[in-house]
Amino acid sequence: MAKGARSAAANTPAYACCMPTALITGASAGLGLEFARQYAEEGFDLVLVARTGSRLHELAEECGSRFGVTAEVLVADLVDRAALERVAERVRSTEAPIDVLVNNAGLGLKKSFTENPLEREEAAFDLMCRAVLVLSHAAATTMKGRGSGEIINVSSVASFIAGGTYSAAKAYVTVFTEGLATELAGTGVTATALCPGFTHTEFHERGEMDVSNLPEIAWLNAPDVVRTAIADSRAGKAVSVPSVRYQAVVGLLGLIPRSLVRGPVVAARRRR
Ligand SMILES: NC(=O)c1ccc[n+]([C@@H]2O[C@H](COP(=O)([O-])OP(=O)(O)OC[C@H]3O[C@@H](n4cnc5c(N)ncnc54)[C@H](OP(=O)(O)O)[C@@H]3O)[C@@H](O)[C@H]2O)c1
Repeated sequence: MAKGARSAAANTPAYACCMPTALITGASAGLGLEFARQYAEEGFDLVLVARTGSRLHELAEECGSRFGVTAEVLVADLVDRAALERVAERVRSTEAPIDVLVNNAGLGLKKSFTENPLEREEAAFDLMCRAVLVLSHAAATTMKGRGSGEIINVSSVASFIAGGTYSAAKAYVTVFTEGLATELAGTGVTATALCPGFTHTEFHERGEMDVSNLPEIAWLNAPDVVRTAIADSRAGKAVSVPSVRYQAVVGLLGLIPRSLVRGPVVAARRRR
C-alpha cells in the first residue's frame, strides 16, 4: 500500500497529521517488529525503540524501501530512567506528533520471586510497569490536548491469573489501561490493553523458558495478534484478547473461584 493510503481508508480515526506516526517500544523483535511492519504497510511513519540499534536500523531501512515511510531509530534501555525520559520527550513532541503509542517492550521471568535476584525483579518492574506508566502519561496528556490518538499497552492473558511477578506486572498493565480508557472516553483518545496468549516470538527463548510441551493449539502468530490489536484499538476497545480460544479462557477465568485460578500455578511450581 502506498504511503498515506491509510489516512483515506474507512474506519480511520482522525490523526494529527496526514502522515500519521506510530512509536513502538520493543520494535527490534517479535510483536513490536510486527507492529512496525503492519503500521508501515498502512503508510505510518515510525519511531522504533529498543536497545539493539543494529536491528532497529535494519527494520527502518526495510520499512523505508518496502513501504516508502520514514522510520526514526531511538536506541534506549527503558529500564534506565534518563533513556526513558528521552523517549517520553519524543512522545510529547508537538512538532512531530505521535499518533499511536505502542508500549510493547517486555521480558519473561523464568525464576520465581524468591529465586530471582532483586535487581532482576526491579528491572522487569521498571520495564513492564514504570515505562508503561511514564510513556502512557506523556502520550495521554499530549494526545488529549490535541483531541486524537491511540495508546496500545501490551499486556498478556497472564494478567488474569496469579502467576508470579510477571502476572502481577501484566495485571497492572491491564487494569491501568482499562482505567485510562475510561478516563479518556470522549476525548478522541483511546487506550487498549492487548492481552495475547502464547505467541511465537523470541520471548520464551530469551527468558530461557521451556515451552516444548505446549500443544500447537495454545500458540498464536504475531501477525494475527497485531492485526487484532490494531483493529480493536481503532474500535475503541479497552481490552483486546486475540483469538476465540483465548477469549474463552479469559471468560472462564472470570467465572471460577480465585483459589482455582491460583491452584494450577502453585501446583506447577511444586512440580519443579
Ligand atoms: N510471546 C508471548 O507469548 C507473549 C504473550 C503475552 C504477552 N507478551 C508480551 O508481548 C510483548 C512483546 O514480547 P515479544 O513476545 O514480542 O518478545 P520478544 O520477541 O522477546 O521481544 C521483546 C522486545 O522487547 C525489547 N526489550 C526488552 N528489554 C528492553 C529494555 N530494557 N528496553 C527496551 N526494549 C527492551 C526487545 O528489544 P532489545 O532486546 O533490542 O532491547 C524486543 O524488541 C511483551 O510485553 C510481552 O510480555 C508476549
